[in-house]
Amino acid sequence: MKINKPIPYGRQYITEDDIHAVKETLLSDYLTQGPKIREFEQKFADYIGCKYAVAVSNGTAALHLSTLALGVEPDDKVICTSITFSASANCVRYCDGEVVFADIDPDTYLLDINSIRKLLEAAPKGTYKGIIPVDFAGRAVNLEQFRQLADEYGLWILEDSCHAPGGFFTDSKGRQHLCGNGQYAELAIFSFHPVKHIACGEGGMITTNDEVLYKKVLLSRTHGITKDSQTYQNSIEFATGGYADEKEYPGWYMEMQELGYNYRLTDFQAALGVSQLKRADNGLARRREIAERYYEAFSGKPYIYGQSGVVEGHAYHLYIIEVEDRLNLYKYLREHNIFAQIHYIPVHLMPYYRQFGYKEGDLPYAENYYQHCISLPMFPTLTDEEQKFVIKTIDRFYNE
Ligand SMILES: Cc1ncc(COP(=O)(O)O)c(C=O)c1O
Repeated sequence: MKINKPIPYGRQYITEDDIHAVKETLLSDYLTQGPKIREFEQKFADYIGCKYAVAVSNGTAALHLSTLALGVEPDDKVICTSITFSASANCVRYCDGEVVFADIDPDTYLLDINSIRKLLEAAPKGTYKGIIPVDFAGRAVNLEQFRQLADEYGLWILEDSCHAPGGFFTDSKGRQHLCGNGQYAELAIFSFHPVKHIACGEGGMITTNDEVLYKKVLLSRTHGITKDSQTYQNSIEFATGGYADEKEYPGWYMEMQELGYNYRLTDFQAALGVSQLKRADNGLARRREIAERYYEAFSGKPYIYGQSGVVEGHAYHLYIIEVEDRLNLYKYLREHNIFAQIHYIPVHLMPYYRQFGYKEGDLPYAENYYQHCISLPMFPTLTDEEQKFVIKTIDRFYNE
């Protein structure tokens, strides 16, 4: 078998329809904050099954606006997983809060609820403010269980669903909950970076069922500026420039009522998002097919001792295996044009977080996982031939 093209671990899938959708918007009257934003928000909310969605410039902006809306204040303690992209934790630091990392479950690679419980039990109630669970690799966190624990200790939940649009877990009553549906978490966030399920280039979304949080996020997306005259604080006389008898605010008027940001998505990125969303279920089905093939190929192989597996509701942003001699496998795959990746270097051991006292040995499961994990090519346009080549190359490495 000969593969000429490099095979990355993830790749966007752009069609003629996507290009047409972007072109149409580029030629319209709106480049930013036009009708495509609202359409994308509404269609995404319908897809996820939540009430409100707010499109933003990227997943990191979505996290930042969320921690602001949830009211994170200096020194507030928030629990986060260490096996994630650092943005999941950094949003707490943007508000000067303290990130407290808890360990992962070595079987699911997700934030371990028992590790969280230990932290909560060891501190006086009120010490912690919130939890940021991540639907890591596309596997849905069981938020029903997290909600029970969070309610016991008065915590909010911010679900980082960047890897999991279309992923779901099944609750104790047998109901399926799509990641980010707002049933158990106050807020959830998504990213539309090119390797994710839906690509906008850059892009993000915040989802919620809470109207108050929705309005807060919406306001801070655009500088804290509102054009809703019902909420105006300055007088009509001031707004008009001294016309004491006017009964209405003038058309130009708006108010900046709090400190906000420019975290807007452009209209042509939203057009790409709308177009990509139409194919989201197909992409998900293909990812699940690829996962099944990997799972079957690796089951019973002595050199694989952990893998993402076939899990109901898994959205398979990543397919991860755990192996011995990971570094040399990684190099061997590259020599054969296969660009596997490592997700993730534990965030608590990044130099930035070490300054807060984190050190090796603090989170044994997360650290052990990091020594062995490797993410294999996983994207809807990966061909059967390419996947077979990946599997065969791994086999060859361990059997040569
Ligand atoms: C789990 C997770 N959270 C947050 C982010 C941040 O998203 P973005 O890159 O769109 O800012 C990413 C993106 O890579 C991610 O993987």
